[in-house]
Amino acid sequence: MLKNVIATRYITPLRSGGSVPGVVEADDLGTYVVKFTGSAQGRKALVAEVIVGELARALGLRFPELVLVHFDPVIADGEPHQEVRDLHSASAGVNLGMDYLPGARDFTPEVAKTFRVDPLEAGRIVWLDALTANVDRTVHNSNLMIWPTLGVAPPRLWLIDHGAALVFHHRWDGTDPAKAYDFRHHALGQYAPDVRAADAELAPKVTEELLREIVAEVPDAWLTDFASPAEAREAYVAYLHARVRASRQWLPTDFPGREELAAEEARRTARNQQGRPAWLKQVPDLHGKPAAEQDWSVHLG
Ligand SMILES: Nc1ncnc2c1ncn2[C@@H]1O[C@H](COP(=O)(O)OP(=O)(O)O)[C@@H](O)[C@H]1O
Ligand SMILES: [Mg+2]
Repeated sequence: MLKNVIATRYITPLRSGGSVPGVVEADDLGTYVVKFTGSAQGRKALVAEVIVGELARALGLRFPELVLVHFDPVIADGEPHQEVRDLHSASAGVNLGMDYLPGARDFTPEVAKTFRVDPLEAGRIVWLDALTANVDRTVHNSNLMIWPTLGVAPPRLWLIDHGAALVFHHRWDGTDPAKAYDFRHHALGQYAPDVRAADAELAPKVTEELLREIVAEVPDAWLTDFASPAEAREAYVAYLHARVRASRQWLPTDFPGREELAAEEARRTARNQQGRPAWLKQVPDLHGKPAAEQDWSVHLG
């Protein structure tokens, strides 16, 4: 069972992602990144966080501990921004916390230039993302972190943020569990991920029994799509179990190499530059994520 803790001190919002999680200290002396039930991403994002994160852990991938955080907005009284205050007051009660990795760095394209990842480890992560239809582990927004970074031990990859996985739960009756997945922009595509080896190793581990144990961790209050939480849990188990059995059909294999990605990036930059006035051509393009990343509809139906 996920541990229950009470948030005792609010430290800061994290604005780099979209959901504005908060860093808090809790009554067990731990520090956690809290994903709020009142965020625009909604409770389904938290359901995906629990199911995919605990599945990752069960499969031996590095993923920080999850806890249920009881949050009283009063502790964040000093937060100056109204939109963050609104988020807090919409989230009184139970929220999801992830153990904070102190000093961790985001795995960015810059970090990737020198960081080595073993093809089997890359394969396991890509496999998990393909199984759980995670659309949010791309080159420009990897939701991977490197930790520790202080030289006490070799830095390793850690998974975070599975809120955008399980895209099928946005359209329960419309998504084929055998649907292939578009992984051209996966953050680890350039490491020659050995997804076949990962499939042989991991698929037999994803049993109905394991899936049942994992979905049991999701609080009832977040499971509102069906007549009862029990029915919702069965729907997740049935879908994921059908999908794991169909792994041959969705296994991603044709990853573009570094050169192909670099050429694509150059074409994209050139496209973005078109139509800009001369002075603006010198300004770095900070927002231009590849168009394919923004069009999620390709992952549905
Ligand atoms: N467990 C953690 N330890 C340290 N930093 C974290 C942790 N989780 C998230 N972060 C930082 O906060 C940012 C936003 O968190 P994320 O879970 O990706 O939320 P969002 O849903 O907003 O994208 C991450 O990119 C990372 O920099
Ligand atoms: Mg994120």
